[in-house]
Amino acid sequence: MDEELRIDTVRLLRSLNDLGKIGRREGFKGVTRLALSEEDGKARDLLVSWMEEEDLAVTVDPIGNIFGVREGTNPALKPVLMGSHIDTVIDAGIYDGAYGVLGALEVIRRLNEEGIETRHPVGVAAFTNEEGVRFQPDMMGSLVKCGGYPLEKAYERKDDEGVAVKDALRNIGYLGKGKIDPEAYFELHVEQGPVLHKRGVEIGVVEGVQGIAWWRVALRGEANHAGTTPLDMRKDPMAGTAELYAGMLEYVAVKGNALCTVGKLRLEPGAINVVPSLADFTVDYRSYDDATFREGKTEVEKRLGEIAVRRGLTYEKETTADAQPVHFRREMVALVDASAKRRGYSTHRLPSGAGHDAQFMHVICPTAMIFVPSINGVSHSPGEKTEAADLEHGANVLLDCALVKAGVKKES
Ligand code: GLV
Ligand code: MN
Ligand code: MN
Repeated sequence: MDEELRIDTVRLLRSLNDLGKIGRREGFKGVTRLALSEEDGKARDLLVSWMEEEDLAVTVDPIGNIFGVREGTNPALKPVLMGSHIDTVIDAGIYDGAYGVLGALEVIRRLNEEGIETRHPVGVAAFTNEEGVRFQPDMMGSLVKCGGYPLEKAYERKDDEGVAVKDALRNIGYLGKGKIDPEAYFELHVEQGPVLHKRGVEIGVVEGVQGIAWWRVALRGEANHAGTTPLDMRKDPMAGTAELYAGMLEYVAVKGNALCTVGKLRLEPGAINVVPSLADFTVDYRSYDDATFREGKTEVEKRLGEIAVRRGLTYEKETTADAQPVHFRREMVALVDASAKRRGYSTHRLPSGAGHDAQFMHVICPTAMIFVPSINGVSHSPGEKTEAADLEHGANVLLDCALVKAGVKKES
């Protein structure tokens, strides 16, 4: 076999740009393809058409995950999957998720072009609702697939307009019945943080993914006049939210190995001269360290309770995601490392700060992730960018890793 088999960067970039045309909105610089929206549906249709052009057998499962599988020489063997997601946050770049899916498709295109046979089938996976912006929890497709969340409960999750996941899946035509049982899973992704770019390293060898906990909180007080209500007579949920957030920012700064974000906030009645009666907000707390993850979650809930009592507020809280820190199997991490080094690429081992479908696929099969640098660490933003050369390096490593697991290449 040709040791120097390489992916076609020009074609990969073209595919990324073509997919990145779907979800453009006036007044926004980036793409918005919220999970199971019309735009997500269009992106899925394009992906499926590309899978069919490569003669892949397309399967959609009950939570809408899409798999396109290329036959292996031994049909009894399970497929080696490569993939990520094609839904996006609001006003996103074109690489987050799409790079992993289209990098995988590019690997398949090269195998087809070269007529390379693999013992195991090899497939592309695009998981439903990785981002969790419209429906929570995030990584919903891989979480349900790995048995970490009941399908029926996922179907009932609703967006802010009251649309349920099952109806949204049906609306875009991706309520499937199929099932795929993978041999292994590889996820290629832009780092989305500053580590690799700062170090000038070509490939990130991902050791694991930090824990992610999400809450939705409705903190309730009493609407009152902004010009007449003395501080000690206020029941102000916005002040409570600000205190919670500032306190948690201080907590994570002292800890040094955790992060906390309030990324969504809505006030009622929402008027300049009215102390609000409601603060409806989200909390995102993360740590790679098991103890810090556990303690920080308790800290959020304890502080919320104390603040509510002291400020005369009431609240309802819902934990909308709770994913433990994950450490990938050593041999899978070593495979990525060795594959990158064999190509002559510089490497650095790191945990992922962002959530990924790999953290749940890890539960059901040997899993690994490959990172490439994000320029200035920017992501979840239209400013997200990765150099073409880095995109090529990452996809070459993906190709090599998949071929090892699929039974073609010798492990280096
Ligand atoms: C997904 O991108 C996340 O880390 O929130
Ligand atoms: Mn992603
Ligand atoms: Mn993302």
